[in-house]
Amino acid sequence: MSMNSFGHLFRVTTWGESHGPALGATVDGCPPGVPVTPEMIQHWLDKRKPGQNKYTTQRREADEVKILSGVFEGVTTGTPIQLMIENTDQRSKDYGDIKDKFRPGHADITYFQKYGIRDYRGGGRSSARETASRVAAGGLAREAMKAMAPGVQITGYMVQMGPHQIDRTAFDWDQIEQNPFWVPDAQAASDWATYLDGLRKSGSSVGAIIEVVARGVPAGIGAPVYGKLDTDLSAAMMSINAVKGVEIGEGMSAAMLTGEANADEIYMGNDGQPRYSSNHAGGILGGISTGQDIVVRFAVKPTSSILTTRKTITKNGEETEIITKGRHDPCVGIRAVPVGEAMMACVILDHLLLHRGQVGENRGIIG
Ligand SMILES: Cc1cc2nc3c(=O)[nH]c(=O)nc-3n(C[C@H](O)[C@H](O)[C@H](O)COP(=O)(O)O)c2cc1C
Repeated sequence: MSMNSFGHLFRVTTWGESHGPALGATVDGCPPGVPVTPEMIQHWLDKRKPGQNKYTTQRREADEVKILSGVFEGVTTGTPIQLMIENTDQRSKDYGDIKDKFRPGHADITYFQKYGIRDYRGGGRSSARETASRVAAGGLAREAMKAMAPGVQITGYMVQMGPHQIDRTAFDWDQIEQNPFWVPDAQAASDWATYLDGLRKSGSSVGAIIEVVARGVPAGIGAPVYGKLDTDLSAAMMSINAVKGVEIGEGMSAAMLTGEANADEIYMGNDGQPRYSSNHAGGILGGISTGQDIVVRFAVKPTSSILTTRKTITKNGEETEIITKGRHDPCVGIRAVPVGEAMMACVILDHLLLHRGQVGENRGIIG
C-alpha cells in the first residue's frame, strides 16, 4: 500500500524521516517549460523554516532545497522532479529516552500498533519535518500556476490562537508579513505575543485556526461529486500534521444560518461578469469554483510535546510517566501557515490541469 502521494495530475509523493539524512518530494505530472530555480522554491521553505523566532522550535535547519531531476536549463522538462532537503540538525539523543515509551498526542503508539516497528527519533515519518517536502512541492506548483492562471494569489494567516480571535474589522493584508504569527491584525499580533510568551515560559502550548485564501482562481475549476474542489482541499488540509478540523467558507457556522442569509445572491457586475453579494460558499458551488475567493480554514491542535509530566505506557504495557524534552513550538499553528498555503497551491494547480485536460477552452461563457 502506498499512501505517501496526493494529487491527480500534479502528483506529489513525499519521502523521508525527521532524523534521516534527507527528505523531499517527487513531483510527477508538472507541465514542461515552467521556469524554476532552487531559489524560487527556497523562498517558500524559508517561511516554514524552524528557529526563526522564539515562538518556533529552535531546531536549526537550513532547509536548503536541491533539485535533482526534471529541470534542464532552468525549465521543467515534464519528467519527474525530485526535490531534496538535507536534515542537518538531527539530535537523536534528545529522543533516546522515549525509545520504549509512547508520547501522548503523538503518533508513536499508532505507528507501533500498525507497523510493529517505529523510528522513534523525533517521530520518524510522523514528524512534521515531512511538511517541508509539501512546501517545496507547493513552491513548484505556484511557479507552474503562473502560466496557467497568472492572477492566482494564495495567502495564509492565523485567525485564532487559543481562545483569542482576530478582529475582522481590523483585517490588514499588509500586516501578515509583519509579525511572527502571520496575523492580519496588528493589535492581535501584539496581544498574542504576550499570551504566547507566558505559555512558552511555562512549557505549555496552545492550538490555532489558520485561514488560507486563494484569490483570482477562475470560475469553473473543480469537478462534481467525487473530485470536488472542496473534497480535495479538505483532504489536503486534513493531511497536515496536527490538523483536527477543516471548514470551507461558512463551514460549521452554515448550520446556524437561514437559506436567505446563506445563499450568495448573484447579479451582473459592471464588467458584464457574474458577481455575488456575499461569499458564504467559500468560492465553491457543487465542487466547482465560482471565481470568488476560495476560503479554507483549519484547526491545529496544541503542540503535544509539553514540559509537564504526562501519564503513558511502555511498549511492554507498563504504566509510566513522560516529559517530552527536545525542541518544540508552543503553537505549531504558526509554522502550519506556509504548509496550508502549499497544499492550496498543489490542489488548485492540480484542478487547473484537470480542467485543461477535460474541458480546455470550451467553458460556459455568461452574457
Ligand atoms: C509545522 C508543524 C510543526 C510541528 N511541530 C511539532 C513539535 O515541535 N512538537 C509537537 O509535539 N508536535 C508538532 N507538530 C504536530 C505533530 O507532528 C503531530 O501532532 C503528530 O505527528 C501527531 O499527528 P496528528 O496530530 O496529526 O494526529 C507539528 C505540526 C506542524 C504542522
